[in-house]
Amino acid sequence: MIDVRRKDSGAFYTPDEVVRTLVRWAVRRDSERLLDPACGDGRFLAIHRNSSGVERDPEAAASARKRAPAASVCEQDFFAYAATTDQRFDCAAGNPPFIRYQRFRGSVRSRALDLCARLGATFSGLTSSWAPFLVATASLLKPGGRMAFVVPAEIGHAPYAVPLLSYLVRAFRRVQVIAIREKLFPQISEDAWILYADGFGKRTNHVSLVQCSEFEPRSSPPRDGDRVSLADWEDWRHRLRPFLLPQEVRELYGRAIRHPQTKRLGELARVGIGYVTGANDFFHLRPSVAGLAGIPKRFLLPAVRNSRSLPPEIVTRRTVDAWLRRDEPVLLLRLGARERLPASILKYLDSAAGRLARTSYKCRHRNPWYVVPDVRVPDGFLTYMSGKTPSLVGNAGRCTCTNSVHAVRLDEGVRLAEVQAMWRHPLARLSCELEGHPLGGGMLKLEPREAARIILPHPTLSLSRREQQRVQDGIATMNRWRHYE
Ligand SMILES: C[S@@+](CC[C@H](N)C(=O)[O-])C[C@H]1O[C@@H](n2cnc3c(N)ncnc32)[C@H](O)[C@@H]1O
Repeated sequence: MIDVRRKDSGAFYTPDEVVRTLVRWAVRRDSERLLDPACGDGRFLAIHRNSSGVERDPEAAASARKRAPAASVCEQDFFAYAATTDQRFDCAAGNPPFIRYQRFRGSVRSRALDLCARLGATFSGLTSSWAPFLVATASLLKPGGRMAFVVPAEIGHAPYAVPLLSYLVRAFRRVQVIAIREKLFPQISEDAWILYADGFGKRTNHVSLVQCSEFEPRSSPPRDGDRVSLADWEDWRHRLRPFLLPQEVRELYGRAIRHPQTKRLGELARVGIGYVTGANDFFHLRPSVAGLAGIPKRFLLPAVRNSRSLPPEIVTRRTVDAWLRRDEPVLLLRLGARERLPASILKYLDSAAGRLARTSYKCRHRNPWYVVPDVRVPDGFLTYMSGKTPSLVGNAGRCTCTNSVHAVRLDEGVRLAEVQAMWRHPLARLSCELEGHPLGGGMLKLEPREAARIILPHPTLSLSRREQQRVQDGIATMNRWRHYE
């Protein structure tokens, strides 16, 4: 219960030493007015007398008033507040709510996106709440003002971080992102970094990126960041994360991209998601169950149901035979809409399991409910949530796949063995780290769009021993940042 509420409100309170540090960075003089736009229990407000907080949760707002009696606390949706207030602040600090787009909705979201659009930052509906929070907060600063916030590490790679950072570099003289490897919030899987922006009303041509292995309390923001120019940021698809790598490794990667024989996976194959049944247990039969029900073989197609069932290189007929011998539920019931169905299948569809399956969301929304769409036999499979590294596995066993792995269909004339040989290149592995994104819990996720961008250097693109070592170190660095050691 508490967890659901927390997910809806993004309420994960900030550790004391982080609170103290951020307020110190933001406030220069006692007389300055500080804003915390999502003040929770008032822990930021409590350490600076001249402060104002906004909080939409009445219980939290009451705790804030108690904890910070000198502060003014406004119980309201922050976006409604920001759109109407004429108050302006010298500085702001806090930890904005991290509410993912699925839960960040309704009038709060439309107010947030409208306000940001008026301020010149256009967010899509796939935006988490914290990014519009920061734009709206910045707009309430006086000229020369500054802000210091805890931000999700997604600022380093999420598409919705692009309008935020683009706005910040146009609105502040200095924009600094402090990447912190150790978790600030051990209880949640997302990593948190820090954003510091100073000199509201001016602009800058770069973001300064500082890397720390763990959070260190300090009296002022670090000065020694790597300068990421806006042009470089754009070249790296508006991601800061690649700049966690040493420049030499980025240069090697850039050289590989420019090499005439290097391809992107998307130039050789289509990467897409597998099918969704809506009722996996019903649609995937064990051979013993299919036999007892008398379902003819032509209606059953072996399926890769998850990445754990994949061998490292290729799914063969033997692999499938082994699944069947172990009586695994891997036979997809594949029915066509206009097909005459035998009595055995009609009986199975009308069984108790069938009557339950057809009530699922997906089944209710398709006609007829038992025809699973997008069932294809691809040339290969790509794992898209991976620990060490994603695998590209051939499909000689003529299987289909669920959406637990990606389906890879080769363009005409392309051989999978060739693509796999390129896939083994260390720069292709590094590319998976750079094009994919961390998912928490040490996992790397590759969306189809990201997978299509993976570079596949030709096997003849050789690296010196020293370069190989650099690339391996680069992969290890990216693994460490996503907590896969
Ligand atoms: C991550 S907590 C941060 C609280 C506190 N600043 C801290 O760091 O400990 C985010 C807070 O934002 C509040 N919140 C969520 N949506 C809000 C909104 N639209 N307007 C104002 N507050 C909101 C939540 O109730 C929650 O208390």
